[in-house]
Amino acid sequence: MLVETSGLAKAFGEIRAVDDMSVAIPEGAIGLVGPNGAGKTTFLRLLLGLLRPTAGSGKVLGKDISDGLAVRERIGYMPEHDCLVPEMTGIGLVAHMGRVSGLDKDTAMGRAHDVLQFVGVEQERYRKIAEYSTGMKQKVKLAQAMVHDPPLFIFDEPTTGLDPRGRSEMLRLLQMIAATPGRNVILSSHLLPDVESICRHVVILDGGRQVAAGDIRALLSGSEARLRVDVRGDREGVARALREMGFELEVAGSGLRVVRRDGLEAAIFRAARDRSAEIRYMGAEIRSLEELFLELLAKSAPGGR
Ligand SMILES: Nc1ncnc2c1ncn2[C@@H]1O[C@H](COP(=O)(O)OP(=O)(O)OP(=O)(O)O)[C@@H](O)[C@H]1O
Ligand SMILES: [Mg+2]
Repeated sequence: MLVETSGLAKAFGEIRAVDDMSVAIPEGAIGLVGPNGAGKTTFLRLLLGLLRPTAGSGKVLGKDISDGLAVRERIGYMPEHDCLVPEMTGIGLVAHMGRVSGLDKDTAMGRAHDVLQFVGVEQERYRKIAEYSTGMKQKVKLAQAMVHDPPLFIFDEPTTGLDPRGRSEMLRLLQMIAATPGRNVILSSHLLPDVESICRHVVILDGGRQVAAGDIRALLSGSEARLRVDVRGDREGVARALREMGFELEVAGSGLRVVRRDGLEAAIFRAARDRSAEIRYMGAEIRSLEELFLELLAKSAPGGR
């Protein structure tokens, strides 16, 4: 397991930012999603050993989170908020972070050049960070997380503040990292398309608690999945007939979205034949992560937030 926690909790006064989290997260590319204030950043900072839990325990890559140094050695952390020193140059900062992570001077400088090359910071690396655009700063934040070549990356809202081109560049870099063998990624975001484009597994948080977790594909085609049916001809008539037979459905564009139940497929063909309508398509409707997310949040206790 990449991450295992048991009863992990962190309270700030009355606020239970992380509330009794017991998770088992497999290796790979993991999305951590949840609305603002769900506890994503707090959870990540607990994993990094940067916050001391109020209760519970956890392990990251087999190391106990109470041993912050051992954990952080194995993690490249790209924090949500600015962590850059404006007076330093890009190359100076990234090399410094390499030194802090235990690399010798020459190795740190060599790696700093390599990772800045990878993220696409060219000659600007010799200028002060104070003069960088937001996109450039975000790339340097990524580079400093990569300098010691860790097996696990934690990216907290890595596309925040980026314009569409900056965002797609950042996503491409993160995809390349996630696709590298031996590299694991935990990506925290409330931008679900970002998560879908990078992650295989997802953990959904709300009110400091896990409300769902699992393989994204499996979650999206779960038991509540609907069947999508495209009908040419008397679509309304087919819909009415199915409703009369007790099926739950909605009409969406050229098709129907019908809640699955035994006998559904036979009923659809019968209803269509009776009205000389033609079934153009029938297949599992894959919900988007966004739809699943909104459904889960509607179910989870609103007082939790
Ligand atoms: N240092 C702190 N002191 C007091 N309260 C805090 C502190 N850090 C976080 N909180 C509170 O804990 C809750 C969870 O915050 P957290 O930043 O972990 O959420 P998040 O899921 O990362 O949200 P966002 O999407 O806005 O980044 C919020 O109610 C927040 O106000
Ligand atoms: Mg956050």
